[in-house]
Order: sequence, then C-alpha cells, then structure tokens
Amino acid sequence: MDTEALNATKIIEHLHDCSHYNVVVLDSIDSTNDYLMARVASEECDVVLAEKQTAGRGRLGDRVWNSPSGNLYFSMHKVVHSDIQKLYGLSLVIGIAVARMLKNEGLEDVQLKWPNDIYWHGKKLGGILVETKQSANKVDVVIGIGLNIIDPTDEKFVCLNQALGKEVSRNKLTAELIKSCDAIFNQFIQYGFDTFKDEWNSYCLPDGEAVSSLKEHEVIDVIGTV
Ligand code: BTN
Repeated sequence: MDTEALNATKIIEHLHDCSHYNVVVLDSIDSTNDYLMARVASEECDVVLAEKQTAGRGRLGDRVWNSPSGNLYFSMHKVVHSDIQKLYGLSLVIGIAVARMLKNEGLEDVQLKWPNDIYWHGKKLGGILVETKQSANKVDVVIGIGLNIIDPTDEKFVCLNQALGKEVSRNKLTAELIKSCDAIFNQFIQYGFDTFKDEWNSYCLPDGEAVSSLKEHEVIDVIGTV
C-alpha cells in the first residue's frame, strides 16, 4: 500500500480547536524527540513529524526505533509549571490517548502492553517515549510516538494499513493524535493518574501487568535536569 505525504497545512486543517499547535514536518531527522527537545527554549514548534528518522530512539536508552519512510514519527512539546512528580503516569496515559484515537479511527481490539506499547492482535503497532527536561520553574515534556503505518519492520510488528485493511491518511491521523494527546494531557494535569487506571486496565493485554500503583522509574523516562 502507498502512503500520503505528510503536510503541515493539511494537518492543521484537521486540527480545529487545537489549531494553535505549531506543526513542523521534516523530511529526515535523527530523532523527532531530540529535534524538539533541543528547541523547547525557543518554543519555535510544538509538534514535529519526520518522514523518516536516522537515529530513532526507543525506550530504556539503548533501544533503536527503526524508522523507514512511510510510518509516523511524532513528537509533541508540552510545558508544566510544577514539580516533575505531577508527571508520573504520563507515559501510560499517552498510551490511552493513542488507543482512544485508533479506536475512533475504526480500529477494534487495540491493546496496551506495560508500560506503553501499542498492540494489535499480538503484534506491536507502535511505541511511546516520553522525555522531560526540568528547570527552575517548569518541566518541558516531549511526547514521542512511533506508529507503524505501512512497514512492519519485522514479524513482531504490525502496521495500521494492514490492521485497518485500508490506506490511512497520515495527515488526518496526526491531527487526531494531536487532539487526543492534548485532551488527555489537560485532563491528566487537572485530575492526575488515578482517573485513568480503569481505562488503562481495560486496554491491558490479558497476560499483561494491570496498573495498581505507580513506581516513578517505571512510568517516565527522564533525560536530564538543567
Ligand atoms: C518504544 O517502544 O521503545 C518507544 C518507541 C518510540 C519511538 C518514537 S518515534 C518518534 C519519537 N522519536 C524517537 O526517536 N522516538 C520516538
């Protein structure tokens, strides 16, 4: 299956209430998370996508995220003016945002594997890498999401076009992802993680680890403090 080229104008057309997000589309970059984290101070963009990544990163520091052209490599910047503890659980909640969005796009049976892998029918559809940078009076958060759209890089993966049986519009999908992450982020900051426990457990793989308590090192990837 073919794939639609990413286009910032087309993404913004679908954003409606979230049209204040400044979206940048790049042809190729090492990592959209790194690109955005390097620009949090200048606030020149809120969402970055790349057609491909040359050094895409997975969780736990040393994992590589294979990033050929055609899939979705997405990073979103948010700021919180409070302590980093407020963010414990955020990476789990972003899993719910992705699952909700995929469900709205018509994908049944989306599941989450602890802590935040997106699964469909026993195979990995996507992954999430949340990173933070703390300074004196704020925490910059970069929410990185990789979703396989056309290319299930190996047999452990599945892609969205395959799962949906049709070609998805990556621009529309990106807009829906921005809206879903925006809505859940605001809700999470206001009400905290507990509000989401039941929903997270409802998506949890049958043999997966249900959420009962949060251990900070398990639920957030912190890249450093400045
Ligand atoms: C994982 O499952 O290990 C997490 C994968 C996260 C990949 C995304 S793609 C966009 C963003 N940029 C990166 O370098 N990584 C995340």
